[in-house]
Amino acid sequence: MATQDDLKRMAAHKALELVPHGEYIGVGTGSTVKYFIEALAASGKDIKGAVSTSSSTSALLRQHGIAEVGLNEVNGLALYVDGADEINHSLQMIKGGGGALLNEKIVASASRQFVCIADESKYVARLGKFPLPVEVIEHARSLVSRQLLKLGGEPELRIGVKTDNGHQIVDVSGLNLDQPMSMEDAINHIPGVVENGIFARRPADVLVLARAGGVELVYAK
Ligand code: 5RP
Repeated sequence: MATQDDLKRMAAHKALELVPHGEYIGVGTGSTVKYFIEALAASGKDIKGAVSTSSSTSALLRQHGIAEVGLNEVNGLALYVDGADEINHSLQMIKGGGGALLNEKIVASASRQFVCIADESKYVARLGKFPLPVEVIEHARSLVSRQLLKLGGEPELRIGVKTDNGHQIVDVSGLNLDQPMSMEDAINHIPGVVENGIFARRPADVLVLARAGGVELVYAK
């Protein structure tokens, strides 16, 4: 029987078919993306370079000999490839389990096409079982947490974690995410919030979904 790791690897390999030659691409963060970087390096595809979303992704790109380029050095990206913690049928996501949500949202917003790679456990009818990561300015953490309580969530500090941009992460359970775009906006309006892990304003354009029976491309319903 295929394990979750097998499925992640299958989705990552299939995504290679969507990578154009001779373009800059963005690369997300996480274990599914790790498989994508390995597959990309082995494929010999001649991309111009990759914009990274985290120090761990940068290390993997270096390790596999893929040229990294800064976002300021390119005029937009053809494609962005990343995993998700949850993705719904409109291809809106919760991201940030790996703590890279801020850079991921920035790079995704600069990309013409967002390809999400995921195993079937991530594909859900309703977002919200996975606690929502919220990146906060450290000294505003308690203030932000009180506001998140008012929005119906139960915030919990991710102990011992600092993001690549020097902030803390609060994971929020119990939020009603039936209107993901409104919640994305409401949380980002709290002073002290740097970014939150709802990707509704910039959903994926295509989901490469790996199930035990095979891999399929899913478009927003
Ligand atoms: C990192 C993310 C990842 O895409 C998400 O956590 C999924 O990770 P994995 O591929 O390891 O399951 O948002 O910030």
